Amino acid sequence: MGIATAATDATLERFRLSEAYQQIKRNFHRHLIQQIEERSLDIDAWDAAKTERFVAEQMRRFVVEQRLAVNQRESEALVHDAQDELTGFGPIQALVDDDTVNDIVVNGPNTVFVERNGVLEVAPVRFADNLHVIRVIQRILAPLGRRVDESTPMVDARLPDGSRVNAIIPPIALDGPCLSIRKFRKQALTEADLVRYGSATPAMLAYLRERVQQRTNLIVVGGTGSGKTTFLNLLSQWIPQTERVITIEDAAELRLEHRHVVRLETRPPNLEGERAVNARDLVRNALRMRPDRIIVGEVRGDEVLDMLQAMNTGHDGSMTTLHANSLDDALNRLELLANFAGFSGSEVTLRAQVASAIHLMVQVARLPGGERRVTQVAEVRGTLDSGLDLCSVFRFDPASAAHVDQRGQS
Ligand SMILES: Nc1ncnc2c1ncn2[C@@H]1O[C@H](COP(=O)(O)OP(=O)(O)O)[C@@H](O)[C@H]1O
Ligand SMILES: [Mg+2]
Repeated sequence: MGIATAATDATLERFRLSEAYQQIKRNFHRHLIQQIEERSLDIDAWDAAKTERFVAEQMRRFVVEQRLAVNQRESEALVHDAQDELTGFGPIQALVDDDTVNDIVVNGPNTVFVERNGVLEVAPVRFADNLHVIRVIQRILAPLGRRVDESTPMVDARLPDGSRVNAIIPPIALDGPCLSIRKFRKQALTEADLVRYGSATPAMLAYLRERVQQRTNLIVVGGTGSGKTTFLNLLSQWIPQTERVITIEDAAELRLEHRHVVRLETRPPNLEGERAVNARDLVRNALRMRPDRIIVGEVRGDEVLDMLQAMNTGHDGSMTTLHANSLDDALNRLELLANFAGFSGSEVTLRAQVASAIHLMVQVARLPGGERRVTQVAEVRGTLDSGLDLCSVFRFDPASAAHVDQRGQS
């Protein structure tokens, strides 16, 4: 791209963010809606090319009628944005289509961020006002049979392509409607990807593959967005094809390429607060389905007890993830969840149960620069007074930014 084009792009970007542009866009949108309603056009039945022709034609007339001073590129931008407005997700459609974007977060009409390669950056788009954001949220939710309004100001939903959507609007959200979209990667990350990104080493992956095949009970520990689910997915691929696997998730994110997989998904309560199916119900049911292994996407509630029990009673090779910031913290968190779930034994009993249920712990983290790393792989040898007796197998050394193989050390 030449310097002239780059300069024009920057100018165009500024124009797109300006109040003048937003005003023209609003008026043009209103004009389009009027045309569609007056002529009873069924634009939902049109394909993209037909919609574009219609919008472009209307734009030409609108520019003349309104005596607008817009150049060719600006008018193209208007046509493009108006089309997204009519049929897509409005100002964020281009971000939804951009495969390098993982997450999109909208904090009110004027602040949109995207995450690329783990780094959050400001996106050069904005909405006209709060209502505009809400309109786009409704358009995203409508095909799913959901909506947000004052009585249901928070919605958590999954799009047909697997992407997660969360919306929360005023009066609960104080600074305007918020929308978060976590896009579903079309291709799951592979071993080669993780090695290329420096997230793991070939030696570590070979070790883990072997442990999975030996039916080691395993837990992946990390913070939000640290790559737990991604790593669990990779580990699951190594389960022999002959085994029967049951997966239990709040939102089916795992993609196992096994013939013998039964996927179960929890269900939130309906509007009357009834008919919920929680993870604990599903773990109990899964045990009656003759599984070789049970995979729980994330333990975060009562199901912790059933999962530990399953791991302790012959469902070796079961795996899960847990939200915690360190391996020590993981034990605290398991103890906390177990107590909430009504565990009545002593701390010592519980710790012993955890130590015999979980054979191997993998810790993942998102570093400040956005990179994801496996930061530790540790064997659970038993319990100590202070916690679990862990033996580190691999560790990420931040100073050298490299993984250290600790086998043979002690
Ligand atoms: N090793 C990795 N390298 C690069 N991106 C990753 C890696 N692991 C996960 N991601 C990306 O990070 C985001 C969060 O990953 P996810 O596995 O859903 O995290 P968690 O389950 O811990 O919340 C996703 O967009 C995912 O594609
Ligand atoms: Mg997850």
